[in-house]
Amino acid sequence: MKAIRLTIVCLLFCASLPAQVQWTEVQPGIWKAVAGTPEKISLLKAAGAKPAVAGLQQLPAAKFPLSKGDISVRVADGKVYLRFPLEREEQLFGLGLNFQTINQRGRVSTLHMDHYGGKDDGRTHAPVPFYVSSRGYGVLIDAARYITVYAGTAVRVDTKNPPELIDRNDKSKKWSSMPYSDAVEILVPASGAEIYIFGGPTAMNAVQRYNLFNGGGYLPPKWGLGFTQRVPTLYSQTDIIREADEFEKHQFPLDFIGVEPGWHSMAYPCTFEWDGQRFPNPKGFIDSLMARGVRANLWLNPYVSPKSSLYPKVKPLSGSHTVWNGLVTDFTLPQARQLFKEHFLKNHISLGVSGYKMDENDGYDKWLWPDVATFPSGTAAEQMRQIYGVMMQKMTDEWYREQNRRTYGLVRASNAGASNFPYVIYNDYYSHPDFITALINSSFIGVLWTPEVRASKSAEEWVRRMQSVCFSPMAMLNAWADGTKPWSFPEVESAVQDVAMLRMRLLPYIYSVFAQYHFEGKPPFRSMNLTDGFAYTAQESGGKLDATHNPYEAKTRSELKDQYMMGDDILVAPVFAGQKTRKVYLPAGKWYDFYTGAFAGENTAIDVTPSLERIPLYVRDGALIPMIPARRQAPKPGDVLPLEVRHYGTAPGSFTLYDDDGVSFDFEKGAYSQVKLEVKKDGGKLKGSVGKAQAGKPFGYDGKNVTWTFMTK
Ligand code: GAL
Repeated sequence: MKAIRLTIVCLLFCASLPAQVQWTEVQPGIWKAVAGTPEKISLLKAAGAKPAVAGLQQLPAAKFPLSKGDISVRVADGKVYLRFPLEREEQLFGLGLNFQTINQRGRVSTLHMDHYGGKDDGRTHAPVPFYVSSRGYGVLIDAARYITVYAGTAVRVDTKNPPELIDRNDKSKKWSSMPYSDAVEILVPASGAEIYIFGGPTAMNAVQRYNLFNGGGYLPPKWGLGFTQRVPTLYSQTDIIREADEFEKHQFPLDFIGVEPGWHSMAYPCTFEWDGQRFPNPKGFIDSLMARGVRANLWLNPYVSPKSSLYPKVKPLSGSHTVWNGLVTDFTLPQARQLFKEHFLKNHISLGVSGYKMDENDGYDKWLWPDVATFPSGTAAEQMRQIYGVMMQKMTDEWYREQNRRTYGLVRASNAGASNFPYVIYNDYYSHPDFITALINSSFIGVLWTPEVRASKSAEEWVRRMQSVCFSPMAMLNAWADGTKPWSFPEVESAVQDVAMLRMRLLPYIYSVFAQYHFEGKPPFRSMNLTDGFAYTAQESGGKLDATHNPYEAKTRSELKDQYMMGDDILVAPVFAGQKTRKVYLPAGKWYDFYTGAFAGENTAIDVTPSLERIPLYVRDGALIPMIPARRQAPKPGDVLPLEVRHYGTAPGSFTLYDDDGVSFDFEKGAYSQVKLEVKKDGGKLKGSVGKAQAGKPFGYDGKNVTWTFMTK
């Protein structure tokens, strides 16, 4: 009896002491440890992705990146306490989809699914508990809870690297309210968690491992990379067909149209059934759009209306609380998913609907289900909040996969494990500069983001926003409330059309960049911090004592958060309304102006004064950019197009041009081509050549009709 009591006391006591955990290499360069007793539901379990093993095996070998003895794991009080070491120069990226900051070192975040509220505090559309270090490794905490991360803010008494002790009274100005911290500390409010460490050696390699571990990035259908217009909420099928015709009249690209809430017979909550007045003939509607080469994407939020035929069926499978009077279905239950599947296949997908925009699964606390809600599966409301968007992505993705049709849509809530889902995140926040910072940050956490355009105060803002969105994962105008059209500002209509056409011309490049995301895990739109040769040091400034506004003399950090890479070779530097000139930081290696081929700089910051018609774009020395002639719609299966390959700079170079049928998943079974485009020096002159596509594999370009343009004279 005594012995048992002793054991219990010891178990309780020992459990609260830091423990050495066991690290197991689960995939090449990816290690996992288990802390405490993990819960049944986790982020990765909800996403259910399978590692892309072939891609992982291609990456350079990686060593365990941290000193194991410096990682501390403690389980106490039903929670997990983690500590990871940090070096002095380390920068930390990721930790959710942030809109204003890139380096998260020195910040505290509670990662909580929510609509972004204007502050980088962890409440966001993709509160992914993953960080990437500039030292070339990544850390993921797999638990579907509101995890708090102290990213280099906390200082332990027993730290090996204590901050310098400075007297604030001596006015030396050296005192800081944020003394040096040598660790990331994490509080997971759960009985256990699985912890993953992703090796490098570079930060890009760690991100690649993360994406590949989650199945590799999603390869959108080609039409998904064309232009998309979302129409006003109450447009009828006749209005929408007219809209598609207007696009044709204006010779403006259009591959898919987004149908906003008015297609439901009732919305907020939703029926997921067509409104008989506005859409008397849904099949006829989809068919006439398709006859114009245009697909339809349907808006929804998940809350089931009492007026839907789904309502009585899913009622017993739904949570204790409603949202806007609608049921919150428990998607962890297979029966619930099956009911949705039947309803959606019958009413939309079988008619040819190409995908969904899944709205409002992120939050606002005041209308969402509260954390005191209960669900029939026993899943906690907090867990539900963290994974709801991911469950919706997974379920809808599966429906399309079963049909061997690729989809591409929008979602407002995502999380860890979502790299291989066909969705792009968006929101209502609408700050153009912050949208670009979000685009940069999306690259650290395995999600896609679109800086969508809605309305603008001026023609200048309009064209600047349009330029950015055409250099993002989804080129979208969302006119649900304002009824805007790409030509809403006639004075810039041709500039807007030019940039949309430029995107269409760049589709061979962009599609190959997405193939890289899929097969190699490299984010298609990515931070400069993931780019070789980039060495920008953020400046700290301010910190002046002000008793009412800055009593702790907090400093501000000026980060580079307004330029990014599209693939390996194109640097994009958007311009915001009101900006006449801007700085562009060019990494090491020579860079050239995309439009003229002129040398732009090398390992330097340049000042540029772009015309209203152009978004500044720079290309790496030796890069090859494959393009097709301007067209309104993405290439269709079987199309064979001429190519223009542009070469920039003076160095030889090569490019792997990827192609497949653009619509199905046959590429996953090998039905794709990778053709090498190459420029070599031939007797002092640059000369281009095109490899041969493998017989019987889809390749939509005419190898005999290739024009080589040497841009740099
Ligand atoms: C918002 C969404 C908008 C639009 C609107 C329709 O929540 O962010 O893009 O879809 O709902 O009611």
